[in-house]
Formats: sequence, C-alpha cells, structure tokens
Amino acid sequence: MTTQIHFGRPLVGDEERAAVMKVMEGPILVHGPLAGEFEAAFAAFTGAPHAVAVSSCTAGMHLIWFALGLKPGDEVIVPAMTHVATAHTVELTGAKPVFVDAEDKTGNIDIGAIEAAITPRTRGIAVVHYLGVPVDMPKVAAIAKKHNLFLLEDCALAPGARIDGVHAGLHGDCGVFSFYPVKHLTTAEGGMIILKDGELAKKLRLVKAFGVDRTHGERKVPGVYDTVALGFNYRMSEIHAAIGIEQMKKLQGFLDARKANFVALEQALAGGKGYRLLPQPDDGHLQSCHYCAVIVLDDALIARRPDIMAALGERGIGTSVYYPQPVPRMTYYREKYGYEGAKYPNATRISDGGIALPVGPHLNTDDMKTIADNVKTVIKDLIP
Ligand SMILES: Cc1ncc(COP(=O)(O)O)c(C=O)c1O
Repeated sequence: MTTQIHFGRPLVGDEERAAVMKVMEGPILVHGPLAGEFEAAFAAFTGAPHAVAVSSCTAGMHLIWFALGLKPGDEVIVPAMTHVATAHTVELTGAKPVFVDAEDKTGNIDIGAIEAAITPRTRGIAVVHYLGVPVDMPKVAAIAKKHNLFLLEDCALAPGARIDGVHAGLHGDCGVFSFYPVKHLTTAEGGMIILKDGELAKKLRLVKAFGVDRTHGERKVPGVYDTVALGFNYRMSEIHAAIGIEQMKKLQGFLDARKANFVALEQALAGGKGYRLLPQPDDGHLQSCHYCAVIVLDDALIARRPDIMAALGERGIGTSVYYPQPVPRMTYYREKYGYEGAKYPNATRISDGGIALPVGPHLNTDDMKTIADNVKTVIKDLIP
C-alpha cells in the first residue's frame, strides 16, 4: 500500500506561490524589504524585541556561537537528545559540546544533570525544546545566571511553545528557529533568531553578511563598502522571506490543527499495550506546540521497532524517528570524544525505542484515530 498518512507535508498554497512569483517578476531577490517584513511578523508573533532572519537554524546557531567568539578550549552543554545541528554548531567553532542526558519522561534535557557537567571551561548552555515541549526554562536560566553562561534555545521545533506565557526563545539569551519543509512553518530552507539584546542583534546582522559595514541600501557609492569583522553569508533571500510572510498568516491555524490532532491521538492511543506516549503538557506553565507525537516501545519490544514501522508503512502510515541516535553516539562524535553509553540511558531508550507519529495540519482527527488503531493492532500482535 502507498502511504496515505504522510509523516510530514509542507502546506504551501496559492498565496505562497503568488508571493514567490511577485518577487521573481522584480529585480530584487536579496537585500529587499521582505526579509525585514518577515522578521517583523515573527517578532510580533513571538513578542521578541529583535528578530534576525537567517538561511537556516544551523546557520543561526553557528552565527551566534561564532559572534560570541567561542574557540578551542571552550565547552558548551548540549543535550544528548537533539538534532546533530545543535552540537555541530558548537563543534564548528572549535569548542567542545559536552553532552547531558535527557529526562525519561519528556526527552528534554535533564535539568538536574546540567550543573555536574559545567567546568571552568564552560561558556554556554544549549537546550532544545524536544518535539515542541518546552524545557522548564526558568530553572535552566537560573543555572546559566549562577555560572555566567550564555543560554541558547534551539527552537527548531518550538514556534508557538510558551513557558509562563512567554514564547520559547525569550527565556535564555536567544532562540533559533528552523523553517525546513516539515516544520511548523516553512520557507523551504530558512531560520530566525529572536533575542532581547539589541547590541547582539546588531552584531549578528553584521556577521551574517560578511562583516560588511553597510547594507546594500546604505552604500552612497554603489559597490563601495568596508569590512569591519569576519563573517558569513547567512542571509535569507526575498524569495524565502516571501514564503515566510504568507506562512505567518497561517501559523495560528496550523498550531490549532496540531493541538487538536495531538489531543485526538493521545486519547485514541490510551489503553494500548507495549508502549508509552511522551506527554506534551499544555497548561499555564508549559505550553507545547506539538511537532509530532513519540511513542516509546517497552524494552522487550525495542528490537522489533523496524518491523513495527514497516508494518505501519504497509498500512499506509508514515512514521519517523526523533532523533535516530543520542548525538554522542553518532560516529563523528563517538570517534572524536569516545562514547560512554551508560551516561545517556534515557536518550538511548528514546532514540532506540521511539516511533514518531504525525500530527501535522495536513492531517485531521479522523487520521489520528486511524493511526492509533493501527499502532495498537500492530504492536499487540507482537506482544508475546
Ligand atoms: C532540534 C533541531 N535543531 C536544528 C535543526 C536544523 O535545522 P535547519 O535544517 O533549519 O538547519 C533541526 C532540524 O530538524 C532540529 O530538529
């Protein structure tokens, strides 16, 4: 059977297509007004004092660590349960990611284990809001403050996530979002940094564009500028920004659909045997934004995960794994730093025994019932 319930589908429509065509019909593909317009819309949605558009979440995180002057000999705390980009962007500066295990209940970083990983070389803490479930940021922010550390929130999965009513990304020193196709909103490739510090925002704008002292519009004589800092080309084009502006108009609808789907799936999965669903709190303190739903198989069934995912695929249900390995177990990090698996039991269990189920707005609550019925049946057949 071909897949009928896809794990992820970008929802772009006539509005995005028309906006892209409008850009393509004009002469300005980069350095135009749309990147700024998208930044303003994202800042308004999140309540951020500053928003800086970049070419991806990875570019944004690298830009930050680079702009802060992270260097060999420095260390940054990084969750073991995350996308490899969170670690790579530290590693790219020559600094060392020091991995901390996940908490078993949610898969988010084990806050209680952070302080034991801090050394005199630690310069920062990175957290990821895994699956769009907010990390309890006031607790992490208190640790960062106590040890004078920069606090970066990897918000790749967190548009719409809030802690005590304040959007994710505004509890630490900055938050970085991803607009890769299957995320909450997409620009094809793209990212956004939100932050409170105006001086740092200014620096990020400089370093994301070669360290050039004047933007295109500020050059009195065309082509004449100076370079005052080392920098990248991590800009967002007008084409990408045009898609983003249209997606922002739809974002709340997307989030509402994700929430309704997650609630329906949670209810329909209840009572099933052989797995547990990672909870996604949605109360006054932690407001999740439901990127996908992850069930973790009981230990006795973990070896059967490929069979379970294949059987679901045959029944037309797309699944995925978030994330496929604890990052310190990935070959690059294992070979460079060695790997002590015993340090990451929770991230390992979620990586090896987790199955990610879709709740995106391309699906509806009837689809959730279909997913849950099939999950229950396939797993029940395997329980001895
Ligand atoms: C937690 C996390 N961080 C970073 C990234 C990388 O985002 P991008 O592809 O925009 O660089 C991803 C991508 O899925 C992610 O899940």
